[in-house]
Amino acid sequence: MGLSPFRRAGSLSSHSASPSKAFSGRQSRLKSRTVLFGLMAAIFLFATGCSMDGMSTWDALGPVAEKQLELFNVLLWAMVAVFVLVEGVLLYAIIRYRKRPGQPKPPQIHGNTTLEITLTIIPTILVLGLGIWSVFTLFDLEDPPTTGPDALHVNVTAHQWWFEFEYPDTGSGKHIITANELRIPVDRPITLSLESDDVIHSFWVPKLAGKLDMIPTHVNEMWFQADSDKIDEALPVTLFGQCAELCGLAHALMRFRVTVMDQADFDSWAAAYGPPPANTEQAKAGQQLFQQNCTLCHTIDGPDDPALSASRLSGFLTGGDITPVPAPNLTDLRTRQTLAAGITDLTEAHLREWLRNPEDLKPGNYMSSRAVLYQGGNASLSDQEIDQLVAYLLDIR
Ligand code: CUA
Repeated sequence: MGLSPFRRAGSLSSHSASPSKAFSGRQSRLKSRTVLFGLMAAIFLFATGCSMDGMSTWDALGPVAEKQLELFNVLLWAMVAVFVLVEGVLLYAIIRYRKRPGQPKPPQIHGNTTLEITLTIIPTILVLGLGIWSVFTLFDLEDPPTTGPDALHVNVTAHQWWFEFEYPDTGSGKHIITANELRIPVDRPITLSLESDDVIHSFWVPKLAGKLDMIPTHVNEMWFQADSDKIDEALPVTLFGQCAELCGLAHALMRFRVTVMDQADFDSWAAAYGPPPANTEQAKAGQQLFQQNCTLCHTIDGPDDPALSASRLSGFLTGGDITPVPAPNLTDLRTRQTLAAGITDLTEAHLREWLRNPEDLKPGNYMSSRAVLYQGGNASLSDQEIDQLVAYLLDIR
C-alpha cells in the first residue's frame, strides 16, 4: 500500500525482465520502427507520384481550383504551425525535464486556470477562423460569375465505367452527346449537372476543381473555368480527369479527358459533330456490320434518343447475358484522342485490339459480358470485319 500504480508496475517489470530480454525488446522495437518508417516513405512516394500524371491539385488552372488551393494552403500551413509548435514544446519538455539518476521526485501539481483557459481559447479561435474561411469559400464558389461570357452547360452522367457528356445547346443550337472527352472553350464558365445512372461515382478534374459525387436519382451542380493566362502551353490543352469514388471492378479504369480549346476551335468541333461518312467500300461494310451488331447499345448518328437510353438502362438494371446496356455515344469517336474511358490512346491498332477482345484492355467492361459478339462461337468478329469496323468508326480513307 502507499505505492502508486506506476511505481508498482515499474518495480514488477524490473524484477521480471532479464537484461537480455530487455535488449531483444529494444531490438524488435527498432525493427518495427524501421518498418513503419519505410512504410511511410513508400506512402509518401506513392502519393506524390500521382502528380506525374497531370493530376496535380497544386497546379490550379482556373478560379475554382485556385480558390480551393488557397483554402487548402491556409489550412495546411495553419496546421503545420500548430503541429510544429505543439510537438516542439512536447519534445523540449521531454528532453529538458527527463528523469536523471539521483534526481528527487518533482513537486506534483494539478491544474493551472490561466493556462487551461488560454489553451481553450487559442484553438477555439483557430478552428472558428478556419471554419468561417471554409464556409465563405464554399459560398464564393457556389455560382459562376455573372459578368463576362455566358456559361456553357454540360450534363454529365456516370455509368459503370465511363462518362457521358451532353451539351443541350453548344451555343449554335446544336445538341451534342459524347463520351469520356469533355471539350470546353477557354475563359468561359462551364456549369455541370452531375448524375449517375447506376452506382455512386465521383467527378474529378484536379486542375479545374475538387471532386463532386455523382449520385443516382440526385443531381449535383458544379462549375469551373480554365483561364488562358494560367495555361502555359498553346491551346488546345488536354487535362486529366478520373472517377474518384470506388464504383466497382473497373473503377481505376474510369478516366476522362478535358480538352481546353479556343472558342473558335470548339465551335468548329461542334459544327462537325455527326456520324462518320462511310465514304469507302471498306467503311460501308463496317457501317453495315455496326448496324447489325452494335446499335443495341451504341448510338452513332447524333444524340441518343431518350427512349432508347431508357430501354438500355432498364436492360442494364435487369441484367442477364444478352441485354442492352448504356454505352458510349460513338458519333464523334473519330475526333477523340482516347479509347475505353481514357485508358489508352485511340489508334487503329488499339481499336482493333479492343474490338477483338475488350476484356484484355479493360477487365470487367459490360461489352465483353453482354454483347453476343464476345460470347464466343461463330458470332465473333473476323480480322476482316474488325478492319471494316475500324475503317468506318475512324473514317479511314
Ligand atoms: Cu466510377 Cu469509380
